[in-house]
Amino acid sequence: MNDRLPILDLSRAYAEIRDEVRGALERVFEAQSFILGREVRTFEEHVESYLELPEGSAIGCASGTDALILALMALGVGPGDEVVTTPYSFFATAGAVVRLGARPVFADIDPATGNIDLAEAERRLTPRTKAFLPVHLFGQTVPLEGISELCAKRGVAIVEDAAQAFGAWRRVENRIARAGTTGDVGCYSFFPTKNLGGCGDGGMVVTRDAERAERLRRLRVHGEGRTYFHEEVGLNSRLDALQAAVLDVKLPHLERWNADRRLCADRYRLFFESRGLTDRVVLPEELSGNHHIYHQYVVRVPDRDRLMAHLDGLGLTTRVYYPLPLHLQPCFAFLGGRPGDCPQAERLSQEALALPIFPGLEAEEQERLVEAVAVFMA
Ligand SMILES: Cc1ncc(COP(=O)(O)O)c(C=O)c1O
Repeated sequence: MNDRLPILDLSRAYAEIRDEVRGALERVFEAQSFILGREVRTFEEHVESYLELPEGSAIGCASGTDALILALMALGVGPGDEVVTTPYSFFATAGAVVRLGARPVFADIDPATGNIDLAEAERRLTPRTKAFLPVHLFGQTVPLEGISELCAKRGVAIVEDAAQAFGAWRRVENRIARAGTTGDVGCYSFFPTKNLGGCGDGGMVVTRDAERAERLRRLRVHGEGRTYFHEEVGLNSRLDALQAAVLDVKLPHLERWNADRRLCADRYRLFFESRGLTDRVVLPEELSGNHHIYHQYVVRVPDRDRLMAHLDGLGLTTRVYYPLPLHLQPCFAFLGGRPGDCPQAERLSQEALALPIFPGLEAEEQERLVEAVAVFMA
């Protein structure tokens, strides 16, 4: 085995399912049917039952970015509309809003989780707000139960960006609310590095509203109703059969893989605690009632860049998610964002450091990394 510890090693989980994946790929090639079709519908059905959603509510599409664009299109978001969202996410969250001619309005984050601060979000709702777009960052669900009622009262739709949180959940009263199933539309990404990842780009939208599901199904094929008859202008955003076949092999393993990520998170905590580092390394916090799936394991540290370089020199790979909050991205300068607008997000972008986490990561590898952090901080 290579001595370098990668941030993510997909080959370990793949080794468990190699034969199944190859069988599924072979089936697609034998059928010579590559776009949508039976493979995609079967995977959609399995997602519907996994997420406990009604039949027809899951719609596969070409990427997580397209899932966001399709969701916002289906809700009629366009020029003149505002969408309240987080400044701390992958670019696509706000990019999708701007792509449709609407305006992202950034509410600062809760420093404990990195997720949008719901009180800040509420303060940014205006009569122009068409949608609220929370992101379940790093695999931890935003507690939406409070704000859902307010949004419903004010006619604000909720689009959940669950690209990093497939399978994460939150206990709400006596039931489990899976990330992506609480709002009006939930969006997922199956980018290969996601916890449920394909062998290329892929995404999905889910909605409990049957009419909206029908519209989404049209929107992903150029707004086509009957073949060659177009009711509106949509996208070309279809999930392909190869992705669906691979994802369908992986889905039954996901709970176990997510559990393995949680085990890795527990081990990091143990190692950091046993070396007395938790006063200098802030570990991710799991909110009460939440089932965090640790899509990323992001700690906060002072002097982050030097620590990162130190670890890199020892063959230990880390990453920064995200070095520049969205309100400060050059392409969004027209929105008028300034340093100091979202101080918590700006501070996290200086301190956040993602450590390796993936199914199959070994305790010794984690210990080696924590030991290197201890040496740096001694
Ligand atoms: C929070 C978030 N939203 C949206 C996306 C976009 O997904 P994709 O890369 O599949 O377009 C990603 C992943 O890359 C993401 O992490």
